[in-house]
Amino acid sequence: MEKIIIDCDPGIDDSLAIMLALNSPEVEVVGITIVAGNSPCELGFKNAKRVLKFLGRLDVPVYVGADRPRVREYVNALDTHGSDGLGESFLPEVPDQMIPDLSAAEFMSQTLKGGDVSVIALGPLTNLADIIDRDREVFLSIKRLVSMGGNFRSHGNCSPVAEYNYWEDPDSAKVVFNAMYEAGREIEMVGLDVTRKIVLTYDILDEMKRKNPVVGDFVEKITNFYFKFHWEWEHIRGCVINDPLAVAQFIDQSILSGFSAFTDVETLGISIGQTVVDSMGFYRKESNALIYTKVNEKAFWDLFLPRILGIKGESNE
Ligand code: RIB
Ligand code: CA
Repeated sequence: MEKIIIDCDPGIDDSLAIMLALNSPEVEVVGITIVAGNSPCELGFKNAKRVLKFLGRLDVPVYVGADRPRVREYVNALDTHGSDGLGESFLPEVPDQMIPDLSAAEFMSQTLKGGDVSVIALGPLTNLADIIDRDREVFLSIKRLVSMGGNFRSHGNCSPVAEYNYWEDPDSAKVVFNAMYEAGREIEMVGLDVTRKIVLTYDILDEMKRKNPVVGDFVEKITNFYFKFHWEWEHIRGCVINDPLAVAQFIDQSILSGFSAFTDVETLGISIGQTVVDSMGFYRKESNALIYTKVNEKAFWDLFLPRILGIKGESNE
């Protein structure tokens, strides 16, 4: 069983990723850390607790990290995830859940030291850049670093060329990619090139509701807004669930394939947040990123659905 920290900004697809991870025997979620992204930190904390309550897993600790990007002004994505950050499901707040004094970066630093814990980052990389600032060696003791973010050939979702997690905090993303380069290591980048292929459709949702009405109802509640957003903005009949793919790839490394390349992140100007993937070796620099470009969609759904449908689920009422 692999130990993981999920660093996230719940967030609708973050929530589905948490559901998948906590119902996968291959991984042990030792903690969830919140970063400002889709939702401001406090809301992200409350949403993580709402999902953990539904899963009957309030035992999983949740820590709060950076409440704003490294340099830029903070820009949330509540236009995509709803005013409550959970698709305007307006689930009741879980009572008596205090934000711990221990920050996300402090928790991660303590936990990562053993060298046997991986990080699945589903939001901006602000917390990870904080760890690098604190103690680079601790950051480099991360066993595997899988990040949902960036894009290679796919167009962006925040600008023609930038994906939200790296656009919201490009400076932290640059710090993280550079730290991996200097250490001769690779971040696994699960970008829009592959996540765009993972579309939760109405048919799949109907199958979920039929096979497990409690889970299906919960997923419908938190994705309804997301379906409408995708139709309005991209005329997609369904919703792209980016984050669960990063968890699935962590569990089954055959789901995605790609190539290694030196990758940097633009932090200024019109293409701010763009991942510049040197697939042709122009810069003659060693690789610091495994860029995923191909996805076996069936393998993803064959892993995702049975686990999600295996959830009992507790009422959030
Ligand atoms: O661009 C998609 C990513 O940004 C996802 O992780 C989504 O949750 C948001 O954080
Ligand atoms: Ca996310």
